[in-house]
Amino acid sequence: MSDEVASHLSGIIRSMSGFLAAIMDPEIGRHAADPAASNFIAGNPQELASPEYVRALQRWAEPKDKDWFGYKMPHRPAQITAAEGLSKELGLSFDPDDIVLTRGAHGGLAAALIVVVDPGDEVIFISPPWFFYEALILGAHGKPVKIRVKPSDFDLDVDAIAAAISPRTRAVLINTPHNPTGRIFGENTLGALASVLEDASARNRRTIYLISDEAYSRILFDGNRMITPGAFYARSLLIHTYSKSALAPGQRLGYVALPPGMPGRDHLRRAFMVAGFSTGNMLPDAIMQYALPEIDTMSIDLAHLQRKRDRMVDALNEMGYQVQAPQATFYLLPRAPIEDDVLFARTLAAQKVLVLPGTAVEMPGYFRISLTATDAMIDRALPVFAEVISNLAAGVPR
Ligand SMILES: Cc1ncc(COP(=O)(O)O)c(C=O)c1O
Repeated sequence: MSDEVASHLSGIIRSMSGFLAAIMDPEIGRHAADPAASNFIAGNPQELASPEYVRALQRWAEPKDKDWFGYKMPHRPAQITAAEGLSKELGLSFDPDDIVLTRGAHGGLAAALIVVVDPGDEVIFISPPWFFYEALILGAHGKPVKIRVKPSDFDLDVDAIAAAISPRTRAVLINTPHNPTGRIFGENTLGALASVLEDASARNRRTIYLISDEAYSRILFDGNRMITPGAFYARSLLIHTYSKSALAPGQRLGYVALPPGMPGRDHLRRAFMVAGFSTGNMLPDAIMQYALPEIDTMSIDLAHLQRKRDRMVDALNEMGYQVQAPQATFYLLPRAPIEDDVLFARTLAAQKVLVLPGTAVEMPGYFRISLTATDAMIDRALPVFAEVISNLAAGVPR
């Protein structure tokens, strides 16, 4: 690696090589901008944002005083609304001062890691991970320790997490509801994890924080309810975002919430503020902060998302794919009908159906479909999914 880039960053780039190769695959990527493509790759909007969302931004873009676009501290009405909304959602009582506004979940994850991790501290994270967990841990000068979810049902492997804890463990990073498996971790699992972390923190005489990435907490199917580890373990940092519920992830808005009962909350509040100063301003832009009270109650049409889920799960299973209905999130995670998931994704891409190879999310042999695709994209894609699996079964070369 050349000396033009900091060696620390070069290490992070190396850690992401598998992901970068899969996500930048030229055979898949060259169709991404084609309007005729059915794009299931990412949790991105495939339609215009809702008029309601656009009107909220327009309203708050109009300056009402000279300070409107001045440097900002956290906007109090935004913190109050977020605390009230989250208290209702999770059944816990959050203090507005414990809402740290951030640039989406990505910003919240970075802030949480910077606040608690000392150089060389170990951070256990789950695999399959969200794309950037390892890079974020390395970016905070931590040491990533990867633990797989259980292969049978994708539940958290609490015993494996317990076995991986060392005197240097500083945090455990989980994601529920889980991208890409769609699993919501249950009360028993989270209760067991909480007691493992209580015991280990006492043994180590140093707090092990639980960082809970709850980006999909409002994208729930079948009347499922969000279960937060914050209800079981007070030393949790809960990461929330509006990228999913409003489906406008280019507008950066989210927060870290400290649950009631978090020890040392005054120190933590101050540390989050200072982390913002030392790493570049992490606050969402002024317009997003003003608009938060309106955006908090907005949601994409979950009934429609669930109908797309059901339609695709039924159709794919009928064709011979193996796929479970997710409990939550935007994603389906079917098995690829051949071992090489990148080759399979390229075969679909040749017919303008774009999926994420499982390799990009440490799930080789699978592929991921985002349900944010439109109905028209699904109409066009289903015959292609059918043709490709039947050609593979018949041994037709691609
Ligand atoms: C599990 C998970 N965490 C975090 C994020 C980042 O969300 P945001 O756009 O709010 O930064 C995503 C986005 O895809 C995600 O899937």
